[in-house]
Formats: sequence, C-alpha cells, structure tokens
Amino acid sequence: MIKIDWNKLPRHIAIIMDGNGRWAKQHAIGRVRGHKKGAQAVRTVVKTCREIGIKYLTLYAFSIENWERPAKEVEALMFLLDEYLTKETKELQKQGIRLTTIGEIDRLHPLVKDKLLQTKESTAKNDQMVLNLALSYGGKDEIISAVKRIVQDNKRGIIDISDINKETFDRYLYTYGMPDPDLLIRTSGEYRISNFLLWQMAYTELYFTNVLWPDFTKDDLFKAIASYQKRERRFGLTSEQLEEIN
Ligand code: IPE
Ligand code: IPE
Ligand code: MG
Repeated sequence: MIKIDWNKLPRHIAIIMDGNGRWAKQHAIGRVRGHKKGAQAVRTVVKTCREIGIKYLTLYAFSIENWERPAKEVEALMFLLDEYLTKETKELQKQGIRLTTIGEIDRLHPLVKDKLLQTKESTAKNDQMVLNLALSYGGKDEIISAVKRIVQDNKRGIIDISDINKETFDRYLYTYGMPDPDLLIRTSGEYRISNFLLWQMAYTELYFTNVLWPDFTKDDLFKAIASYQKRERRFGLTSEQLEEIN
C-alpha cells in the first residue's frame, strides 16, 4: 500500500506525459496507437486527481517543438485532442472540472480551437478542479511573449519599469491566476524539462519515473505524491527556520 497524507496534497500537479512512441514500439504497433492509449491514461489521471482533491492539474499535451514532427503524427494528435474534447466535455461537467489552456492556441486547427473555446466557456464556472492543457506550449516562447506585452504596455503608459517585478511579470504569463506547480511528474525515464513551465517551476519538486505514459496508473500517481510528501521544501531557508515557522 502506498501511504499518502491526505492533508498534505500538492495543490498543483504538472505532468510531462512522455513515452507514447516507445510504448507503441514495445507493442509493435504504430505511434498513433501509442498516443491513443496515452489518452486513456489521461482520463484515469484526471479522474483520480479530481477524486482525491488536487486543485490544479496541468498536462503537457503538445509542445511548440512537437509541430516539427511528421505531419501525419501531428494530424493524428490533433484528431485525438478533438476526440478527447468531444467525449470528455460531459464528464468534465459532471465532475465539476474547469478546462483551461496554456500555449499558442491560435496555431491549432480552427475546428479544434473552436471546440476548446466552447469547452472552456461551458466549464468556466466549475470549481472542483482546474484541468489545464498545455497545447502548442513552449516555456521560452511564453516568457518572450510576456516581455513583448510588457514593453507594449510600457509604451502605452500602462506599466512603469519600476513596477516590473515577479508578481507583475506573472500576470503576463499564460498561467496567470494559477499557483505554481508543487510537483512535476515526468514519465518515460527522461530527465529533462523540455521547455515546460520554465518560469513557474522555479521551486517545483521534480519526480521522474521510468513508466511510459500509456502504462501510468493511479498507483503510479500515488507513488509520485508519496515521494513529494517526503520532501522538505525549504525555498532557500534552513530546516531550523522552517521548524520555527511551522
Ligand atoms: C509523448 O510521447 C506525447 C507527445 C509528445 C505528444 P512521445 O510521442 O514523445 O513518445 P516517445 O518519447 O517517442 O516515446
Ligand atoms: C515533451 O515530450 C512534450 C510533451 C510531452 C507534450 P517530448 O517527447 O516532445 O520531449 P523531448 O523531445 O524528449 O525532450
Ligand atoms: Mg517523447
């Protein structure tokens, strides 16, 4: 049994869902079928997070760099996203989950974009959990776009240079209004961030597992949470200082 302290759950979990292609290879099937199986793992994780009371779940579904993959694979991923939205909207409503996105949504196919907007709108009042999909997302790109908008606002007299600090910068990011991730999970045995939430992960606890995304289960999620709960988040302070605070 994996022991979890239900009073010490991470508020925000972010996941780099990696390994669909290798899973497909292992099973001697095409990559697209690996992605399809990966979408099932998404359903399990969303449901579990909602059930146990995680407030924010951010899933890295498609990176800016992923646009460079073979056109057929990109197309299939867009199709799967479309299918997920069609099938899952009802379930999101039922579970009180609000859908949000981060990334360059304008680059998505207009039909997928429309469906996303609809789902975001229809779930906007749900307050049990935020499911935040990173689509066409890149961390460096997000930071650059924030800088550009700050410069524009400065020119228009909306923001003074002396007002630019960590808090105001946050407002120009896609994740505005969301707490930074407490826990990042990356599957498939890769030890890298791959341009995900670069600014927001300054103090995130990192958890890496060899499990390939399509094989990721509820128990794997619990293992990650249990590992997170064993850590001491010091934010630069000493253990002694933390004891004084708590
Ligand atoms: C993750 O699986 C899904 C996306 C990046 C869209 P991959 O497709 O990257 O799987 P591997 O890394 O090739 O195994
Ligand atoms: C990261 O996985 C992006 C997503 C999971 C959507 P990649 O498979 O694209 O990352 P790299 O190329 O191994 O760094
Ligand atoms: Mg990969």
